[in-house]
Amino acid sequence: MSDPAAWWRQAVVYQIYPRSFADSNGDGIGDLPGITSRVGYLRDLGVDAVWLSPFYPSALADGGYDVDDHRDIDPKIGTLAEFDELVAALKAAGIRLIVDIVPNHTSDRHEWFRAALAAPPGSPERDRYVFRRGEGLHGERPPSDWTAAFGGPAWEPAGDGQWYLHMFAPEQPDLNWENREVRDDFLKTLTFWADRGVDGFRVDVANALAKDLTPPLPSQAELDAEDLPDGVHRLRDRDEVHEIYKEWRELFDAYDPPRTAVAEAWVRSAHRRARYASPEGLGQAFNFDLLLASWDATEFRKIIAENLALARSARTSSTWVFSNHDVVRHATRYALPPGTDLKEWLLGQGANPPADTERGLRRARAATLLALALPGSTYLYQGEELGLPEVADLPADELQDPTWVRSEGTEKGRDGCRVPLPWTATGPLFGFGPGSAHLPQPAGFAELSVERQDADGDSTLSLYRRALAERRRLQSSEALEWHAEGPDDVVRFSRPGGWTCVTNFGEAPAPLPAGRVVLSSGPLRGGLLPSDTTAWLEPSS
Ligand code: NOJ
Ligand code: CA
Repeated sequence: MSDPAAWWRQAVVYQIYPRSFADSNGDGIGDLPGITSRVGYLRDLGVDAVWLSPFYPSALADGGYDVDDHRDIDPKIGTLAEFDELVAALKAAGIRLIVDIVPNHTSDRHEWFRAALAAPPGSPERDRYVFRRGEGLHGERPPSDWTAAFGGPAWEPAGDGQWYLHMFAPEQPDLNWENREVRDDFLKTLTFWADRGVDGFRVDVANALAKDLTPPLPSQAELDAEDLPDGVHRLRDRDEVHEIYKEWRELFDAYDPPRTAVAEAWVRSAHRRARYASPEGLGQAFNFDLLLASWDATEFRKIIAENLALARSARTSSTWVFSNHDVVRHATRYALPPGTDLKEWLLGQGANPPADTERGLRRARAATLLALALPGSTYLYQGEELGLPEVADLPADELQDPTWVRSEGTEKGRDGCRVPLPWTATGPLFGFGPGSAHLPQPAGFAELSVERQDADGDSTLSLYRRALAERRRLQSSEALEWHAEGPDDVVRFSRPGGWTCVTNFGEAPAPLPAGRVVLSSGPLRGGLLPSDTTAWLEPSS
């Protein structure tokens, strides 16, 4: 990449969920020194950047997305000095760092929220959040029937006829972004981390900051009406949210190199998402379209073409994601019959339908190799390089995700993708740490451990390492050329220099294009590309 400031346009970013990565002191919780001790692993894997999920002080009501103080480190995870050590170690390894910013809400332990509860209705302290009078003579009923993302009502009583809004757990009161103090405080937070050497920010629920609570409040059914035009939903993806990011962008661009940002914005269309990714805004946005797609060549082709075109028109690059800390791991999704209801499947402890783990892993490897050949950035989630499956059979009393309790046991939530990583095949906690683990690891993690895969040239870890190294060598500009010839269920495209990627989504083996095979996601047989396999080729010299 010629312009070093544009490093993020085609980067491989590795997401670390700190509590489940590596535990240095045996308290069962992964920590910053644990991550620092594994920087060599990240360097050998060949990632360009690390994205750290929240490490801020938190009661962990929502895995750290309930932040007590946006400018500090959770003592369970480390100290600011240890954060600086991690930044230095990553820098020395040539790895950039992105941190998670959670601007939609604070935790209920944040000093602002404590002050708000202690202050009277209508006070400046309450104005930093979204308080409203309840319905009924004494405000005894919530202001509306809105439901929260994890289940249950979106309003919680403050005890004096007033209620506060929480789009997520009750421990996550929503901030009021019309309040100038809130805006200024986040500018201060961004400056705090940017000055500490952070290269970029992942912005949590970036689409939810602007809200319209002008009375009368609509009902939940009216709120989510299908025919609502874009940009006017009361709580999500309102047009004026971009005014906030314009201010952030000015702050980012005052740094040399400019700080980057990526929006987490689950919005209605790829078209709406592109607005978050403009250079006047956050610059990039997660594209979850492939994550949501079936294993289908036509669907993949369409999503790729549409997102590349949209990214071009928004003057940015696209992103590609298959897994993160919020979804069932992709090796498992691809192991289940199309149309499987994942929530039902998790509720049944992953027994029915049974997962075809071999097929799941084969497809996951093929999908990742395909995405890594695309122009744009690929976001990897810790453990996918080991082909880890979702741990679907965690016992109910181990579940931490608020979804389980809030949904009254009708939805298990996201713990199954947050189980601590296996580093070694034997020993306590497969090398995660010397104590206990905050979520139990299954016995099958031994075979999938880094130690086992390190020594095996055909392992998923070896595939990721080789793919990341070859990508670095082969990648140049962001151009892509489609090849339409061949069977419909084969996706084939080339990048400048003749780097060709071909994926067989069909059942029958497909012919391989001419050229030297650089890498394939599975064994090639008889000069053909088997089902569920991706190969990279380059011109034979
Ligand atoms: C999105 C995060 O990825 C998720 O883990 C969290 O629960 C919600 N935002 C609320 O912060
Ligand atoms: Ca620890």
